[in-house]
Amino acid sequence: MRIAVFVSGGGTNLQAIIDRIKEGYLSDIEIGLVLSSSPDAYALTRAADNGIPAVVMRAKDYPSFEEWDQSVLDAVSDAGCELIVLAGYLSLLGPLTVKKFSNRIINIHPALIPSFCGEGMYGIRPHVAALARGVKVSGATVHFVNEEYDSGPIILQKTVNVLSDDTPEILQQRIMKECEQVILPEAIRLIADGKVTIENNIAYVKD
Ligand code: GAR
Repeated sequence: MRIAVFVSGGGTNLQAIIDRIKEGYLSDIEIGLVLSSSPDAYALTRAADNGIPAVVMRAKDYPSFEEWDQSVLDAVSDAGCELIVLAGYLSLLGPLTVKKFSNRIINIHPALIPSFCGEGMYGIRPHVAALARGVKVSGATVHFVNEEYDSGPIILQKTVNVLSDDTPEILQQRIMKECEQVILPEAIRLIADGKVTIENNIAYVKD
């Protein structure tokens, strides 16, 4: 299965996918395209280092949001990708792309949805909010993407304990390493194996 990975920043989740492909866990997966919302994303260097085609597509560089949306859709379709993986992608997708790739877009969120999610809850912010609330566990969620922020069917979640001396940065790093980089490749594996179905906005994962 060929996938497109959308990025905005460091690309540690992209790297985790690349590493799992190399190690064989995702040996039948090919990254056909990396699409970045920023020309400065280090994820672009990771793509170049691994010979993966990459493009920067920012809505502000297009005459209209609709034309940007259509161009994103064309780029993914032209690359022959069947699944879009949002791996730290911080822009909102356009409605054409979301509709065309209905149930074929997944996102990694750095908190346990429905906590600490929604508009504006990205990057370090969910961790700041989790510590401010005093939660004792946090983690990450892989979910399908629909028209609303972080509200599509949940595929996988993984938790870590929150420790008394955690800072948002320390918690963020632990969740990235122990949760995000584990469940994002796992969700791709499950989808490629046809083990994920959706009914009434609930995702069911076969053992
Ligand atoms: C990750 O923590 C990811 O969960 C988060 O951005 C970071 C990107 O890291 N995504 C969101 O907050 C989306 N709401 P990366 O570029 O190193 O993979």
